[in-house]
Amino acid sequence: MAWNGIPAINQMDIAEQRIFMRLDLNAPISEEGQVTDLTRLEAAVPTINYALARSCRVVLASHLGRPKGQIKKEYSLEPVASHLAEMLDHEIMLTDYPIGDTATQLTRQMRTGDIVLLENLRFDPGEKSNDTAFARQLGSFAEIYINDAFGTAHREHASMAGILNHMQGPFGVGFLVERELTALQRLVDEPARPFIAILGGAKVSDKITLVRQLLRKCQTILIGGAMAYTFLAAQGVEVGESLLEKEQIEVAEQILQLAHHNEVNIQLPTDHVVSDSPDNSETRLSGPGVPQGMMGFDIGPRTCETFTKHIMNAGKIFWNGPMGFFERKAFSEGTRAVAEALTETQAYTIVGGGDSAAAIRQMGFHDKVDHVCTGGGAALTFLEGKPLPGLAALQVASARYSASQL
Ligand code: 3PG
Repeated sequence: MAWNGIPAINQMDIAEQRIFMRLDLNAPISEEGQVTDLTRLEAAVPTINYALARSCRVVLASHLGRPKGQIKKEYSLEPVASHLAEMLDHEIMLTDYPIGDTATQLTRQMRTGDIVLLENLRFDPGEKSNDTAFARQLGSFAEIYINDAFGTAHREHASMAGILNHMQGPFGVGFLVERELTALQRLVDEPARPFIAILGGAKVSDKITLVRQLLRKCQTILIGGAMAYTFLAAQGVEVGESLLEKEQIEVAEQILQLAHHNEVNIQLPTDHVVSDSPDNSETRLSGPGVPQGMMGFDIGPRTCETFTKHIMNAGKIFWNGPMGFFERKAFSEGTRAVAEALTETQAYTIVGGGDSAAAIRQMGFHDKVDHVCTGGGAALTFLEGKPLPGLAALQVASARYSASQL
């Protein structure tokens, strides 16, 4: 299926061609150099295999972390290359730098079925600054361009945008981008009501635009995680020493007023799992507030029950952000309760990447919801109603290519 005029890889004539494939292989790497979550690698496999099955030569490109335009060993794509090679059961040649002599030579010498992976694009400052010379070099490595980097779609970087000005095309998207956009669009179009957003995580400031958008679309917003304390403080509830964004209290107040005006039910926690430190697993329950000297690290059982009821009665649901410090067992029950309820509800359910995707995967529920996004920032940008610059640039390039074929 095409997306906004951009063809998917299986609608293109790619046989025996050289393809530049932008992926998001930005996976977490342990200190020992092991990939600790394979989600993004697994998600990239179908598109690569499709190209290999059509005797293509494939140039893979991705960023990893934020090395700030410098070569840093801990940000090398080497561990990614070896995991991916194992998954594909196929040799992968990794370059020493994203552009330059080795990359040029290797991509020139490729034979049918070869895979070259360019070293971390962000080792060169030109990637983030969308630099023309850097983009031109990347563009010289192949003829066909495929974007399957959904997690990076909100970034206007050289391998996502600038490169398109230096390639002839055709241009298309891979299966992952297609699947992600279809799922998110379905969430927007799905008529079932109520539409419930479940928001968590640490910061209100990260989610202001999203919350404002959701206030126009949702009937109910369930708020947990540390961001809930900023909202509770805005209501005058005692939050003890809980993580709080003091400078956002006023914004939280405005959001609560707007919700009231729009008749959107913002449901905040009514009880909490509290402790005097995140390292202390001796916890107790408190509610409706958090006592002085204590910090809230998870939603309490009464809140879990209320949130579960809303989830079970929903028509469609978007979840972004854990309900507490779920990485610690003592504070993981709220996130688990929400994840479990999502597997039981009849609602169309999307988990929007980031920590909530990691949580649902860690708890083993990821196959039981309708869709788990591989990109948190990209999914939020889409739902905020803003254009995704990487895909907008692709749309322009694709239209240019189509016009040149008339
Ligand atoms: C992500 O992990 O959200 C994407 O890979 C984008 O990474 P960035 O936030 O460092 O641009």
